[in-house]
Amino acid sequence: MACSLGLPMSMMWVLLAFSFAIVMVGSVSPSRFDELFQPSWALDHFAYEGELLKMKLDNYSGAGFQSKSKYMFGKVNIQIKLVEGDSAGTVTAFYMSSDGSNHNEFDFEFLGNTTGEPYLVQTNVYVNGVGNREQRLNLWFDPTKDFHTYSILWNQRQVVFLVDETPIRVHSNMENKGIPFPRDQPMGVYSSIWNADDWATQGGRVKTDWSHAPFIASYRGFHIDACECPATVAATDNARRCSSSSEKRYWWDEPTMSELSLHQSHQLLWVRANHMIYDYCTDATRFPSTPVECLHHHH
Ligand SMILES: *[C@@H]1O[C@H](CO)[C@@H](O)[C@H](O)[C@H]1NC(C)=O
Ligand SMILES: *[C@@H]1O[C@H](CO)[C@@H](O)[C@H](O)[C@H]1NC(C)=O
Repeated sequence: MACSLGLPMSMMWVLLAFSFAIVMVGSVSPSRFDELFQPSWALDHFAYEGELLKMKLDNYSGAGFQSKSKYMFGKVNIQIKLVEGDSAGTVTAFYMSSDGSNHNEFDFEFLGNTTGEPYLVQTNVYVNGVGNREQRLNLWFDPTKDFHTYSILWNQRQVVFLVDETPIRVHSNMENKGIPFPRDQPMGVYSSIWNADDWATQGGRVKTDWSHAPFIASYRGFHIDACECPATVAATDNARRCSSSSEKRYWWDEPTMSELSLHQSHQLLWVRANHMIYDYCTDATRFPSTPVECLHHHH
């Protein structure tokens, strides 16, 4: 059949190699849940529907999953469709974290609300075990109607939180100002859903209405493009292997990735102007003296 095209055999191999290349490009697309992740608690609160994962919260339990590996630097994307209808009192989190008391952590926390009222997205950054860096925004879409992509980009210069590729927060490396930056601990990737009606919705005034359970968060599009840190390799070796000073330079270490592009800076300004409702940097009641990293923020 192929020969009826009148192509020489060598040409056929080129075509074959080309279609193989397309298949290879296809493999860059999202992974199945179980290639990268595993449930970490409440296994009976998981449901798998093809490429889709549903994780539920009911009056017995929440649920959570975690990556099988740990990583240093790279980008993690997950598509999430948040709890529909009444989600008041519930929190769905997507985050990266290292282990131990001096851990680093980059958090997305989605705070539920009563039917028709907006979800809030709270982000936080822990460095060496210290958090208290909350920001809160509402979104420019209803996150319960469709899947949206939530990402964390982490390199040696910055941590960027993105929603559908729009940056909503940047935590820049300001080590030159004596401010510690998370870049020496491998991090896992996590998500969970749980009851937090003591604080989550309208300051804890609205409680979870269990008659509306189960509360279901749906996931797909799992993607981790990061430097993997095998547990069998010594921490210092992982750090060296994953840092840009090694012979291999990862895309997230390219100079253009060391700060937002001009377009992204404009997007971030737009988000901050139109959707930000809380920033710890401007909370003088909580922080009578402005946190040091806020003094140097240029965004
Ligand atoms: C959980 O909710 C179900 C349905 O509303 C109810 O039948 C059950 O008793 C509740 N269980 C607990 C432990 O509260
Ligand atoms: C819930 O809706 C209320 C009323 O619109 C709003 O003030 C609040 O910020 C929303 N989000 C949360 C998590 O409370």
